[in-house]
Order: sequence, then C-alpha cells, then structure tokens
Amino acid sequence: MTELAVVILAAGEGTRMKSSLPKVLHPLAGRPMVWYAVETATRLSADKPVLVVGHGADLVRRTLGEAVVYVEQAEQLGTGHAVLQARPLLTGRSRTVLVCYADMPLLTVDTLSRLVTLQQRSGAAITMLTLLADDPMGFGRVVRGPAGQVQAIVEEAVATPAQLAIRELNAGVYCFAADWLWSQLPNLPLSRKGEYYLTDLIEMAVSDGQRVEALVSEDAEELLGINNRVHLARAEAILRRRINEKWMLSGVTLVDPAATYIESTVELGADTVIYPNTHLQGKTIVGTGCEIGPNTLVRDSIIGNRCAIRASVVEEARIEDEVDIGPFAHLRKGAHLGSRVHMGNFGEVKNSYLGPGTKMGHFSYVGDATIGAEVNIGAGTITCNFDGQRKHQTIIEDGAFIGSDTMLVAPVRVGAGAKTGAGSVVTRDIPSGSLAYGVPARVKSNDK
Ligand code: UD1
Ligand code: CA
Repeated sequence: MTELAVVILAAGEGTRMKSSLPKVLHPLAGRPMVWYAVETATRLSADKPVLVVGHGADLVRRTLGEAVVYVEQAEQLGTGHAVLQARPLLTGRSRTVLVCYADMPLLTVDTLSRLVTLQQRSGAAITMLTLLADDPMGFGRVVRGPAGQVQAIVEEAVATPAQLAIRELNAGVYCFAADWLWSQLPNLPLSRKGEYYLTDLIEMAVSDGQRVEALVSEDAEELLGINNRVHLARAEAILRRRINEKWMLSGVTLVDPAATYIESTVELGADTVIYPNTHLQGKTIVGTGCEIGPNTLVRDSIIGNRCAIRASVVEEARIEDEVDIGPFAHLRKGAHLGSRVHMGNFGEVKNSYLGPGTKMGHFSYVGDATIGAEVNIGAGTITCNFDGQRKHQTIIEDGAFIGSDTMLVAPVRVGAGAKTGAGSVVTRDIPSGSLAYGVPARVKSNDK
C-alpha cells in the first residue's frame, strides 16, 4: 500500500468557456491548464495521478499521454460520482486519497502537502481545504457546529440566507482516509438535481462519528478556479507574475515585469536582460548575459550567451554565442546562426546555417542555404530557393563577398573568397577566388 493517491477531476464540460476546446486544455502560460494539476500531483506522490475524464476525453488523453492514469466518467453525474469512477482502481491501494480539480492550476505543492500532513496526523476521515473570503464566488459554504467543528457543506443553490452569509468557503480540495472514502462513497445520496455531490461526504462522516478537519486558507488567488475566460486571463496574469519573480530571483533582469511574457516552459541564464513587450515561448532556452527585446518574440529556440536580439521574431531557430540581430529580423524554422553572426534590419533566414562571423546587414532573404564563416552578404541579397515546384540549396563558402542586390538562383554554389558584383543574377557556380557580375552573372577572367 502506498501513502498517497491523487485523483484529479477533469470530466466537466466547462460550458462557460464557450469553446470547442475542452476547458482543461486551454493554454495557460504555454501549457494546457490541466498540466499544472498533474505536475503538482506528480510532485506529491510517487504514484501516477488518476485523471477522471469525460468531455473531450480523447483529446485530453492525446495531450497528456502516459503522464496520468485515466478513468472515464461517461456521464457527468456530479463530483461524488466522478471520484466513484476511480474506486475500482484505487481501493486498497493507498493510505490517503487527495482529490482536486483540473481547473485550479494555481494550487501549490506547499498547500497541498500541508493538507495531506494534517490529514495523516489528525486521523480524521476527511481534511478539507477552506477559504475565508468576502466574495463567495458561488462556492459551497462551510457550516460549523457550536464548538467550531465542521458539520456540513451547503451548496449555494440550496443555502438559507443565514448560510449564504458564511464567509468560509469550500475550495473543492479534500484529503481522505482511503478506506473510509472507498467504503462510504457508494452510499452518497442522490441530490435534487440528480447528481452525487462529493460535498455530502462531510455530513456522512459527521453522522458516522468521524472527525472532519479543515485547513483554512485566506489566499483566494491560489484557490482560483477557472470557469470562464475572465478567470483564465486572471490565472495567466498570476502565473506570469510567479514565473517572472522566479527568474528575477535567479539573476535575470526584467526591465518591466508587467510587460514581459515568459511561458512556464522557458529557461533563462543569469545576467540576461529582458526589455518590455518580449514574449518567450515554448521550448526556448536563453543563455547568460543576453539582451532580448524590446518588442521581441522567441518561440521554441535556443539562444547562446551574450546575444542581443532587438524587435525581432525568432521561431524554431538556434543562435550561438555573441550573435546580434534586429531590429526587425525574422528567423524561421531551421535557422542556425553561428557565433558572432550579425543580422541587421529586415532580414529573414529559414532552414539555413550562417557560419561564425558572417554579416547580413540589410534587407536579405536566406533560405535553404549553407553559408560559411566570415561571409559578407550585401544589402538586398536573395536566395531564389523555390522554382515553383521544389526548394533548392545555395552554398556560399568561407570568406565570400556577395554584392548588394545579388540574386542567387538555386541550386548554386559560391566558392571560398569569391565575389559577386552588385545586381548580379547568379545562375551558375562561381569558382573560389573569382569575381562574377552581370545578368546572368559571368565569371570575369584574369580578375585584377
Ligand atoms: C464544487 C463544490 C463546491 C465548491 C466548488 C469549488 C460540489 C457539489 N460542490 O462546486 O462546494 O465550493 O466546487 O470550486 O462538489 N467534475 C467532474 N465530473 C462531474 C462533475 C464535475 O469531473 O460529474 C469536475 C469538473 O470538471 C470540475 C470539478 O469537478 O473540474 C468541479 O465541478 P463543478 O461542477 O465546477 O463544481 P462546482 O459547482 O464548482
Ligand atoms: Ca467550478
């Protein structure tokens, strides 16, 4: 028997999102909402969390893969019924069971482990997480007896005016003595709405002579549940702040944290400075001592140390050390810039390698090319890589000098140290060390 099993409820439809995407898959700081509950559960227990799925189950399965064990709730008959679906799988498996929701992504490991510890020390049947707040947010109210002991949870829809005034709310997160839970869960009464409410377990425990404990929180932010896109944006802002604070404390300067958007998947090195309106997304890794932004988007890219990227868009690219790019550069999938590359304004690089120290200052397009070291790419140079049907390769060897406004009609090779004249249209290979110019470009003999 293990210590703790975690059950995450994710079967509800989430109608208030008004979306074709299941609520728990809406992106939040770069990951699907449900990921956060799964990650937290994974840090609390060595057992894979059990995810109760229903609406959009297939898509949820495809998104999370093997990270969780799935249990299907075919019909959404309430929170109690949802947990009941995990009973065959979990009976006799663990000492304690923690139940939480997939739409509460801000809950911390710290709070949940305090809940679990309280449950395991107190020997209660149930330890619930409650929230003291002035805005009831439609939550169930916690009814306590004369000696302060928890007696019941009353849902807002059926609460009396006196109960509605109660400030202690049910967060919807519970820790149970496993044996008690699995033996009592099938006895939940059917509510007037035809559902089985998990909340009714509290009264059942009390009348069974069991203790019910509560961990009281006043942190409404951490207990935010996402029901609509207003809540989604609120959660995004809170997560963003947490992420930004984490990076600032590990040595990254954020000039204006309120205008810095770093997804939870990103990694940053110390002494990097991020200027406002910078978006760092996906599997992006930035080294140390870089300057990124302002007005920059980097997605799924690896950036080395001491790079400067200003007002640019970098997607699925790799940038080595001491590269400077922008303003208004665009790196697309498969762009790889060697160390000390300089890329100025209005350049685009796709599926190409630029060797160390190569310069591409102004208004150029480089696609499907392999470019050596210390090459100079003049203003307005274009690799004509697409003939309407297929893409072709351009190769430029070390130390070549490409004159302004050169069209390189691929497939074509420019040899080491070769030069093209301004306005050349290069349709044939240029041997190393020679000069070619004109339309179409011809190699000059006896170059002086
Ligand atoms: C529930 C609690 C309420 C508490 C509130 C906190 C009950 C009866 N009420 O109300 O006291 O204050 O949470 O947010 O439990 N779900 C399923 N299958 C179902 C029904 C729900 O998986 O059949 C999942 C939903 O996807 C959601 C979670 O359970 O993640 C909560 O369900 P929801 O219907 O939102 O409960 P509330 O009405 O908010
Ligand atoms: Ca809810």
